[in-house]
Amino acid sequence: MLADLTHDGADLTGSLGIGHTRRATHGEPNDINAHPHVSENGAIALVHNGIIENYLEIKEQLAQQGVTFTSETDTEVVAQLLEFHYNECGSMLEAVGRVLRRIEGSYTFGIICSDYPNALIAARKDSPLILGYGENGNFIVSDVTAIIKHTRDVAYMNDGEIAVLTENSIDVFDAEMTPLEKEHSRVEWDVTAAEKCEYPHFMFKEILEQPEAVRKTVSPRVRDGRVMLDDITITADYAKSISHIYMIACGSAFYAGSVAKYVWEQLLRRPVEVVLASEFRYSEPLVDENTLVIAISQSGETLDTMAALREAKRLGGRTLAVCNVVGSSIAREADDVLYTWAGPEIAVATSKGYSTQLAALDLTGLYLADLLETVSREEYDEILTKLQALPEKMQKYLEHYEETQYYASLYFNHDSIFFIGRNLDFVMGLEGSLKLKEISYIHSEAYASGELKHGTISLIEPGTLVVALGTHGPLFDKAISNVVEVKARGATVLAVTTEKFREKMEKTADAVIAIPETYRLLQPSLGIVPLQLFAYYVALQRGCDIDKPRNLAKSVTVE
Ligand code: G6P
Repeated sequence: MLADLTHDGADLTGSLGIGHTRRATHGEPNDINAHPHVSENGAIALVHNGIIENYLEIKEQLAQQGVTFTSETDTEVVAQLLEFHYNECGSMLEAVGRVLRRIEGSYTFGIICSDYPNALIAARKDSPLILGYGENGNFIVSDVTAIIKHTRDVAYMNDGEIAVLTENSIDVFDAEMTPLEKEHSRVEWDVTAAEKCEYPHFMFKEILEQPEAVRKTVSPRVRDGRVMLDDITITADYAKSISHIYMIACGSAFYAGSVAKYVWEQLLRRPVEVVLASEFRYSEPLVDENTLVIAISQSGETLDTMAALREAKRLGGRTLAVCNVVGSSIAREADDVLYTWAGPEIAVATSKGYSTQLAALDLTGLYLADLLETVSREEYDEILTKLQALPEKMQKYLEHYEETQYYASLYFNHDSIFFIGRNLDFVMGLEGSLKLKEISYIHSEAYASGELKHGTISLIEPGTLVVALGTHGPLFDKAISNVVEVKARGATVLAVTTEKFREKMEKTADAVIAIPETYRLLQPSLGIVPLQLFAYYVALQRGCDIDKPRNLAKSVTVE
């Protein structure tokens, strides 16, 4: 590790540095392809987030002029191109400007040059970049959690802007090199929230933090028995004009949207479509001014979600972002933003980010249903009361999760695991299955139980592990029938149900995890917790790198 190699930084002299954690897009993850990349004469070094799309064309041109490349990356091409333009014009800032006009794609750059030993140049397009104003130096980062130990005084860079940092100053320019005044923001996150403390893994800590995170997301938005979303400017008139709702997101946020689709359609009586952001952006979606588009993103920086949001805006839709990171790109670009107050989430596989997205979407659904008058007073009151009680119920389960740990120790050796369920159990299973594959590397799929007979059942053989989800009360009997169906083919069944149905389920399944009961539309908020813990303990048994699973990144700022 770099910390070991440098004796925790003690071996590094000087007052200026750049560093980067790489998610390999071009060339395998090895030392040669790792950043910083240096120009041929060794004078210019840079780190880069993003992808340079026209790098091959530039590489060929530079190679024809005799430039030799050492890595397979798109980033090195930028270092070499910078050297070329710097030699041509003699000004580093001008060279950066020329390079930015030449390259296509997405980027955040941190650039240093030996001719300017005290200066760092930074630029961004479609990739996060935050400036940190410290008392003893200044910073650039792509994620605020990296600097909150040093400063909370930040400014968010916009696309096309260029910053020049020294120890004591930060100057920002637009693409035409006109100086800009940046608005400062204060990061409120607590430093210990971004530290592992006594926990073995961030993921475990974050799973346990969920009751508090959900409480922080819900409580400030409930006053006098009503949901008050002060940050949202949607009026009753606009709500009544909504003909179609899209939820766009990636990864777990997409699965949070998938749960919300069921909840919102019940509450709002409006069609809700959940679309993967990477598909939405290229699908010529049917969006007009009567379309409400909800962009869900923990980081607020996922490139596909950002692009989908821009496409929705371009087509005239009204946009609402559900984000966790204050000041993130998606939060800033959407018409309205509702923050999930989960605090910093560090583990790559989300847990509290997802739970707070569910809570924020439940709140928003209830709020809109109230504007639309599509929910009765009694139902509204019951849902809101039960939403407020979720943290307590999550806590109750978290105090007795040993059975989940035990089942993980029984089943961690399986090569392939199926999650089955109907309705909200199905969409909750999608997230449970994703958690498992992300961190334990076990092949896993989630199926709507009704689809079993159309294919999946052929994969069930003696000993196959099926995680059967039966927390959705109205369809519990059907859940039991599906357990019987897979058991008849020899499956081993680990079932998740509510306390009310535990006994019945125990008569059929091999193992049962029971969770507390809540309002049926909110049940996934409780049901997901054992699935997260199951994935966590299975990964632990298998010796996986839980917080940083192979090939995955926390914030995916490339397409
Ligand atoms: C990555 C993370 C996931 C996350 C997804 C979307 O794949 O590993 O945990 O769900 O990105 O991220 P977002 O920040 O947009 O919610």
